[in-house]
This record gives sequence, structure tokens and C-alpha cells, in this order.
Amino acid sequence: MTKQLILGAFEEFTPNFIGNSWHHPRANTSGFASLGFWTDMVRKLDAAGFDFFFVAEAIGYPMNDEGEVPEAVIREAVQFPVHDPLAIMSALGAAAPRIGLVATASTTAQQPLLNARTFTTLDHLTGGRIGWNIVTSDNQQALVRLLGRTQVTPHDERYAAAEEFVDLDLELWEGAWDDDALRADKAARVFADPAKVHRIRRDGRYFRFDGYFPATPSPQRTPVLFQAGTSEAGTSFAARFAECVFVQDRNAGRLAGTIAKLRAKAVAAGRPADSVKIVNGSSFVIAETDAEAQRLRAELDATPTREATAALFLGWSGVDLGRLDPAATLDDVSTEVGQTMLALWRNPDGTSPTIGDILDSLPSTFGGMKFTGTAASVADQVAAFVETTDIDGFLVENWYGGADGYTEFTDLLMPVLRERGLLPATPRTGTLREMLTGTGSPRLPDWHPGARYRRG
Ligand SMILES: Cc1cc2nc3c(=O)[nH]c(=O)nc-3n(C[C@H](O)[C@H](O)[C@H](O)COP(=O)(O)O)c2cc1C
Repeated sequence: MTKQLILGAFEEFTPNFIGNSWHHPRANTSGFASLGFWTDMVRKLDAAGFDFFFVAEAIGYPMNDEGEVPEAVIREAVQFPVHDPLAIMSALGAAAPRIGLVATASTTAQQPLLNARTFTTLDHLTGGRIGWNIVTSDNQQALVRLLGRTQVTPHDERYAAAEEFVDLDLELWEGAWDDDALRADKAARVFADPAKVHRIRRDGRYFRFDGYFPATPSPQRTPVLFQAGTSEAGTSFAARFAECVFVQDRNAGRLAGTIAKLRAKAVAAGRPADSVKIVNGSSFVIAETDAEAQRLRAELDATPTREATAALFLGWSGVDLGRLDPAATLDDVSTEVGQTMLALWRNPDGTSPTIGDILDSLPSTFGGMKFTGTAASVADQVAAFVETTDIDGFLVENWYGGADGYTEFTDLLMPVLRERGLLPATPRTGTLREMLTGTGSPRLPDWHPGARYRRG
């Protein structure tokens, strides 16, 4: 049976993200700090039938272990400037009536109670359309240099702390208030029934809590839980907690392996294989002819500089390629930062190109899967990719910046995908969880570890 794809848009609150093409003649990103820039984009994607709009978060900007920031970061807008994604979510919800809204928050940088309160607030304000992309953060130096931590927590320990963080938030969302605790009974002068609002106590290795959760239950209670990071520890974490996983691979065979592993780990964790929805970051260049699409792709590949993409790579992986021996390979490199990122630059057979080759290829290889052609040929490529990988949907990378960056995708490709049954005939509706899971319930599914905190 043809899978009906999930569609998200991949943005960061910065002039232009993955493509680093803010300086391309077609890009129009100077107003990125204004609300109108984002509401125009979200309204367009909502009307076209996208399921969600995702805004990534950088807790810092690319810097190496010594705290040095490559000059290209400031000069060429490499995740700099970057603004706060959570701050715009409620305004986007007010601007667009249907689309889901997903923002990243880091378990390494944030604090469990305040994080839970923020997402509950946003779930109320968006009518149950909020999702949390859980990351342990790619930029670890920022924690030490900018946020005052004394040291970088080792990679796998960050995931252990993330489990504790998320588990506490789950109890706050699911277990702190009974469904009928909120009475707002004027005659009895009872706003909330103290017997039905529960004190939560935790004395964990990383987080402590002793008190009440002061935010009332929202339509989904727990935001839809997304996760990104496919290291061994990352996939184990996702298998327990994530309802949707972000990946960003450009090789179908390798991605098929990642997806099979994720689904197997999900089953081992006691949940159905298809209960984890996996969406792949991908760029789409679509034109009236294949030749024109190829020309536009070549132009985009040539748009970012080597320095800008090397800085992006540093920010995501923690590896400063420019300081390594160009003849060395990734076999000579390890990172306590983004392990997924390094794995993506290996050859599909697991061997590694040289550092020099990686640097040369970065401007044209950055980002996830690249689809190029007419709408009909891209729809063929998409169908084949879904067949090979078992992917559930796409996180569409905006390669020009601004609302216009999606025009060919929404106007040329989406009608063809719909005709072929690869998209629902009409856009999905309901809470974000209902849109993504199709279970008909806004609440966490029973298999989820958070479900055990429900009372009554
Ligand atoms: C599609 C996608 C989106 C991501 N968004 C963020 C983000 O917003 N903030 C962040 O710090 N890391 C982000 N990452 C990076 C990872 O979530 C993760 O923090 C990093 O890769 C380290 O984990 P790992 O070693 O398991 O890969 C993203 C990765 C992918 C594939």
C-alpha cells in the first residue's frame, strides 16, 4: 500500500540555515527577525497541507574546542545571528489555524520544570499543536563558554541525563493533575481540587524535584515528542521516548539500515515498529524541465563557500576540519559532540574519504537527501526512496530562505504527490499527535513510558 507521507518544514530562526544562501539573488531573508517573515511562511505551508513547521535551535554558534569562532560564522551568517524559536511559536499558532508547530529544546541546556511549563503553555496557546524536538545539543562548547558550565558532559552521559529529564517532564505532564482536578467552581470557591493535584518527588542522579506542577493540563498534555541524533545512544533513547525521529541522510541504502535499526529497537522497547515516525531532512529543486532543475541545483551547490559549510560542519559535529591534516580520514577523528554528523560523511560502505575531500565536497553535500527534476520525475524519485528506505515523510529544507523558498514544492510537487496517493487527499487535521499518529487521540499512546504516570 502506498504510504501517505508526513511533511514538515525545516527552519532555524536565522536568515538562512542549511543552504547558507541568504546572498543568492532569489533569497529574501533580510526581514528574518520580524514576525511577518515567519507568519507568511507558516500560513503558506498551512494552506498547502504541510503537517508541521519545525524550528531548530542552536544554543550557541559554531566554535571549536578552544572556543575559537571561525570568521565565516559572523561574516557569512552561519547560524549567527540566531534567535529564540520558542518565542515565536504561539504567534505562529495564532497566524495559521491547522499546521503543527515543533521547536527544539535541549535537555543539556534547559531545566525540566521550566521546559515542561513552556511546552504546556504552548500546547494550550496552539490548541494542541505543539511538538518538542528533544536534543542533547550538538554545540557542547557553547555550554561551557556561554552558559557557564564547568565541563562538557560526555556524549553517552548526556543521553542518560536526557532520559531522566524527559521522564520527570512526563510525570509532570501526565501525572501531576487528574483530568477533573480543575473545577473553576465559583459557588464553592474551588478553582482546583487540592486532592487531585499531586506532589511529585524525584531525587535523581541529574535532576531533583519536590513540588507541584503549576500549569494546567493542555490538550495533548505531553507535547508530541520528536528526537534527532542517531548515534547508538541516540537511537536507544528514541526507541523509548520518540514518537517522531528526525534523520538527515542522503544515501538510501544507509538510511534504510538506520530506519530498520530504529524500528527494531522500538519493538525491543515494547512498542509497534510503525509507532516511530521517521522523517528525513531533504532538499527539493523542481523546475519545468529536468535540464533547468539540474542547472538550479548546480547553482545552489555553488552558492555557499567552503568556509561557511566547514563552519556549519563544526557547529553540528564539534570537528574543526580546517585544523586537521587534509590527508587524514574520519578514522583518525572522534567526537563527544555530534556523532550522527560524522557518520554521514563516511562512504556508504563505511570507509572514510580524506578530510581534504570532505572539505572540497561540503558546499555541495551539506544537508540531507537531494531531489532534483520536474515534479513528475521528483515524485518518481520520492516513491522509489520511500520504497527503499521505509521512511515515513520528509523534513523539507528551505534552500533559498523566506516563504518563496517553498513555492515549487507546494505548487508543483505537492499536487503530483497527492494525485499519486503519496499525500492525503485533504490535509490532516486535529492535534499534532492526531495528525502524525492517526490514532484519533490527542493523548500519549499506551505503549509510551509516560502513559504509566496517568492516574484514574
Ligand atoms: C533534522 C535534524 C534536526 C536537528 N536539530 C537540532 C537542533 O535543533 N538543535 C541541536 O542542538 N541539534 C539538532 N540536531 C542534532 C542532533 O539532534 C544531536 O543533538 C546531535 O546530532 C548529537 O547527537 P548524536 O551524537 O546522537 O548525533 C538535529 C539533527 C537533525 C538530523
